[in-house]
Order: sequence, then structure tokens, then C-alpha cells
Amino acid sequence: MDNNRAPAGNSDRPPFQILPPVRRARLFGVDYALCPQPDGGELYITWQAWHWLDYLRPPRWWNAGDLTVTGERLGGSTGTVYRVRSTPPGQPPRDLVVKFSRVAQDVPLFIPDAFLDSLPRDAIATARFLGPFAEFGLIHELRDSIFNHGDRRLRTKVPLAIYSPPERYPLWQTGRHPDIFRSHLRAMAHEQFENGLARVSLDIERDYLEIFAWVDGIDAEEAFNRGLIKKDDLAPLTRSANLTLSRLGYRVLDNKPRHLIVRPMPGGTLLHRHGRIVYSMIDFELLQRHEDAPSRRFTQKVSFR
Ligand SMILES: Nc1ncnc2c1ncn2[C@@H]1O[C@H](COP(=O)(O)OP(=O)(O)OP(=O)(O)O)[C@@H](O)[C@H]1O
Ligand SMILES: [Mg+2]
Repeated sequence: MDNNRAPAGNSDRPPFQILPPVRRARLFGVDYALCPQPDGGELYITWQAWHWLDYLRPPRWWNAGDLTVTGERLGGSTGTVYRVRSTPPGQPPRDLVVKFSRVAQDVPLFIPDAFLDSLPRDAIATARFLGPFAEFGLIHELRDSIFNHGDRRLRTKVPLAIYSPPERYPLWQTGRHPDIFRSHLRAMAHEQFENGLARVSLDIERDYLEIFAWVDGIDAEEAFNRGLIKKDDLAPLTRSANLTLSRLGYRVLDNKPRHLIVRPMPGGTLLHRHGRIVYSMIDFELLQRHEDAPSRRFTQKVSFR
């Protein structure tokens, strides 16, 4: 999706800046518009994606009757992720990724030995899926870092919105740990203390669906299966992604070729720039700041105020 090109034809979308404070929230450095749905669902749209409102409305990609995402389930993952095509009337179709947040669930981790050695001792034991708002916040922080620019800029998927359908599920069905969930709630409350905007919380019995822009291309493992990248080049590609991330002050505990989207070119090659394979990183549910991260205060560009 080209996020810089605003689609024409949005009808009832006032400028983000004039939304009343009760319709706005700010969490982990990201501003949201609150869009309550008629059925009790809650849609939170980042201000950067506000012009995509028509694409993000749940009826475009969510079947409220049978509680399913109207798209293609993406394989090779331990979570629940879909690719959907959203087509608001009179506008060109755009592809989105809809991913169920696994906040406060157990973390199934498979980490290659080579990477394991570089992690602090308790990194695995304390691994936690990020909450949806915390994940969006960290991705934005990473994307906006003043160090993330130029040839070696780390490309990532773009977070757009979070949707929580009204349905509630018992704890045994959600697989969430209440104590872990509570720590997410505390962090969110702390973030929003007396900020004069609407207060957003999470409900342990409800689902949270994260919506991202689709990144054109195929993942690096698929590129290997299609003979577009050699086996010997896969590990260095992942290493290079981890190194770039680390220089910016972050790590992703389970980075792997499946999380890197590359661009096949005519003639059986992949898109390169300055002699390097161009890739976008797409899985951040286990993103962390590492101990040597440059201070957040000095790494953020200006955001909406
Ligand atoms: N924004 C995106 N653009 C393009 N492809 C994507 C995007 N998001 C996910 N995919 C594809 O879907 C697959 C599964 O997505 P993702 O890695 O987010 O799921 P997951 O459940 O977190 O997987 P894992 O078990 O590795 O944690 C990816 O390997 C990739 O091929
Ligand atoms: Mg994942």
C-alpha cells in the first residue's frame, strides 16, 4: 500500500486535528482516533492512517455474523494472521494484514543457536507478547528514530489500526494469563495518566485485531523455496536485519527469514539496492528495546500534537 497517497472520496471523515478530545487517545507516543462501532466494537485508528478510514472500517474485512476475517489465512505462522482486500465503494482495492494479538498468552519460541548466544540470559524466560498499543508504539518509535534513515534504513510494515469486536470469551478460551494481562493494563494506565484525552484500556475477555498495510513481495523463506535466494544467503540476511535493528536499539526475539519480505524481480532475481537485498521486517509482537537503546527522548521525530 502506498501510504503517502491519500485516497479520494472519504465522506464523513473530519480532519484528525479537530476531533474532540473524547474521540482521541494517545498511547506509547501514538495518537489514535476512537471510532466506536454500532455493534459495540471499538476501532482505534492511528492518526497517520486516519485518511485510510474507509479501508479500515470493519465491515470491509470482518464478518460480524460468523466472527471471521474475510480474507486468506496466512500459513507458516504460530499465530492467526490474514491477508484481506479492502475495497470501499468507488475506491481502488488495497491489501491489509489483520493479525490477532496474542497479548498475555504463552510465547512459543524457536530461536536459532547463533542468535541465542547474543541474547541476555533472561530474555527468553521473560519473553512476552507486546500488547497491541505497546506494539504499535514501539514500531512507530523504531520507524521514527532519527537514526533510522538513509541507505541502511530498516523498512517495516506500517501499523494502521486496532479493532476489538464486541464479543467476549471466557479466560480458558483466550489462553491469557491474568497477571501478565494486568501488567499490560498498568503500563497503559500509566501512559495515559491525566493526558486530557479518552482513556483506552484492554478487556481480558475481548479480542484485539491489529491491522497493518500489506507489504508487496514474498517472505525470504518463500524466496528460497522458489530458488530466488541461496540457502547460504538466508542466515546472513536475518543476521543483517538483527544487526540493523540492534544498532537502532531494539531486538526481535524470533526474527527469521519468514519475517523478512523481499521483492522478486523479472528474470528470477530479488530487488537489490547498493548491492544488498531490499527487505521489510514484518513481525514485531516480540519487539523489545535493548539495554543500550538510545534514549527515547533523543530518537523520536515530531509526531501529531
Ligand atoms: N504486512 C505483511 N506484508 C506481507 N506479508 C506479511 C505481512 N504480515 C505477515 N505476512 C506474511 O504472513 C506470515 C505470517 O505473519 P506473521 O509472521 O506476522 O505471523 P506470526 O503468527 O506472528 O508468525 P510466527 O509464528 O513466526 O510468530 C509471514 O511469514 C509473511 O509471509
Ligand atoms: Mg510472530
